[in-house]
Formats: sequence, structure tokens, C-alpha cells
Amino acid sequence: MSASFAERLLDWFDLHGRSGLPWQSPREDYRVWLSEIMLQQTQVAAVIPYFERFVARFPSVQVLAEAASEEVMRHWAGLGYYARARNLHAAARHVVQAHGGVFPNTLAEMMALPGVGRSTAAAILSQAQGQPQAILDGNVKRVLARWGGIEGWPGEPKVAQKLWALAETLVPPTRAADYTQAQMDMGATLCTARQPACARCPVAGDCVAFGEGRVASLPTPRPKKNRPRREAWLILAEDDEGRLLFEQRPGTGIWGGLWSPPVIALDDDRDAALLRDYGLQLAGAHEGAAIEHAFTHFDWTLRPWRGRAQIDAGLRETRPQKWHSAAEAARQLPLPAPLSAYFARTQSTLPLADPP
Ligand code: ADE
Repeated sequence: MSASFAERLLDWFDLHGRSGLPWQSPREDYRVWLSEIMLQQTQVAAVIPYFERFVARFPSVQVLAEAASEEVMRHWAGLGYYARARNLHAAARHVVQAHGGVFPNTLAEMMALPGVGRSTAAAILSQAQGQPQAILDGNVKRVLARWGGIEGWPGEPKVAQKLWALAETLVPPTRAADYTQAQMDMGATLCTARQPACARCPVAGDCVAFGEGRVASLPTPRPKKNRPRREAWLILAEDDEGRLLFEQRPGTGIWGGLWSPPVIALDDDRDAALLRDYGLQLAGAHEGAAIEHAFTHFDWTLRPWRGRAQIDAGLRETRPQKWHSAAEAARQLPLPAPLSAYFARTQSTLPLADPP
């Protein structure tokens, strides 16, 4: 039988993993716990000097529990995410008061410490106490989503559950500390978010994402928020000289006070609205490529509707109006940025030939 996931990972770790980190020797609850809290949002290289200074000043959980909070904060300063330091201090006092200064040895009790979630608790128990416990931090989520071909954004509880279940089936009975570190090192150095080094990966042989060419699409990214989309017609009414009709927009609302070609809501009856509001009809009209613009609260799609202006009974002027070529408009009118870009871009193709 071929080697298990864990065996291959551990063989790789023996050659390429990170060893000699200060919290790896001596490897004890206090130091491992402290390092895991520091490493939650900070990279190894940045953590090391803080860790060394911190344990020099606070060599045990008792000393830390008794320290003044200002001093704890002073030794944390620069690591950021200061809630971590406040939780750290509270957790130290909890270990002293509720556990007589000895760190707990169950997942549930470890998770009861402020600032310690399930993965951090498992990382401490596996590294400091040698317990075979599954971890699932951000890096491991990526590794397992790819290796197991698990679809869905890992921030979703259902997806996270699948990843936890997979993580638990893979935990080896021995070398718990190395296995935890191996997974983290593999996520940080091989199975990276961008440009993962699959050619050097010890588990690429049965990695679902690698086998199916889906490494780039797993893990599934966080779904984009569904922003409302609105659509409207952008009326490009062209006179005999190829100039287009522009008007000043109402003072309030989208692009208030700026200039643009007439805009008609998509659910309006376009041709009737043109005649009613502008006294305008378009001959030989056709639709151009849409203009997309993202506002803070919605996406706006403008659909150009271009044709020759026919003004039989005179143009209705409810707002200031001007006729300009696209190039002139882009240069001279206060247009909203997406429209000046559009007219600057399309000026070389204007006036458009009539459609066939
Ligand atoms: N992030 C959290 N714990 C870590 C560890 N032990 N090694 C590297 N990165 C980590």
C-alpha cells in the first residue's frame, strides 16, 4: 500500500519543514500556547523576536498572570491585533485561577481560554502534549480543499464541517507535533494561494485539484455580495453632422448636475419616452456594447441605443441641451468619468456607419 497522506507529509517535513523555532524547544504548554496566539495573524519571522523578548520577561504563565496589563501590552506593542494581548493576559489568569497554573489537556477546556479557537486549541495540544488532534487554520483549509477536491467557500459552516471531517481522518497516531507543523509549513511554502509548487508537493499524486486541473479554482473564493444591478438606455441621437445630443442631468440623483446623453430607464417604453420627453425619434437605431459602472450600492449597466435623430415637431428642452461630437464632449463637457472614458474611447469610430 502506498504511504498515507500523513506519512508523505512527515517525510517531506523531515527534509524541508521548519525546525529550530524557539517555541519548538523547550516545547512546553506555555511557550507553545504563547507562540500560537502570536502566530494567529503574524508571520513566523516577525513573531520570533517578540516571542524571545516576551518569554524573557514573562517566563511562565504565573509570571504573566501576575503582571500589570500595561507591561504585557508594552511587550506586545508592534505585533498588532491588541485584542490578542488582552485575551492572552486573561487566559493566563484563567489558567492560574481555574487550573492551578497547569494548562488543560482537553480540547473543550483549552477552547475555553480567551482567544483560543478550535484549531488553535488543537495546535497547542498536538505540539505541546503530543495529542493527535486535527487542526484547520486558513492554510490547512486551502491544502485540504485542494487535496480532497472540496468545493464551496470554507467560511461556510457546511464546507468547514467537511474540511474538519477530512482533517480528522488524516491525523496520524504518532508524531502529532511534527504533523501539525508539517501541515502549516506545507500550506505556507508549497500549497500557497497563488502559484503553488505542485511539482514539489509530496501529496500531489492523489490531490484531486491537481489531478483535475482545479488547483487555481480551489478553495472556492468567498461569494461576491449580490449587488443590485440597474439598467438603462443611453440614447445616442446623432444629427446630420454626426454630433450627439447631450443634456445636463438633474441636480440630484446619479451624476447630478453633470452632462450626459439622455438616459431612459430600461423598464420604460423607450421609444414612447423619447417622443414624449424629447420630441425625438431615432431612425436606423441599433444597440452598442454596454457600459458598466459600479456605484457603492449598485451596478449600473448603460445600454447605448444609437440612431439618427428625427425631430419632426421640434426638440423638447426641459433641461439645458447641447449637440457635440463624441470627441468634443469628452473634452468640453463635464461628463461623468465612465462616460468621458467611453466617448474618448469610441471617438475614432464615430460617427458610426449605419448598420447593414
Ligand atoms: N501559524 C500558526 N501556528 C503556526 C506554526 N506553528 N507555525 C507556522 N505558522 C503558524
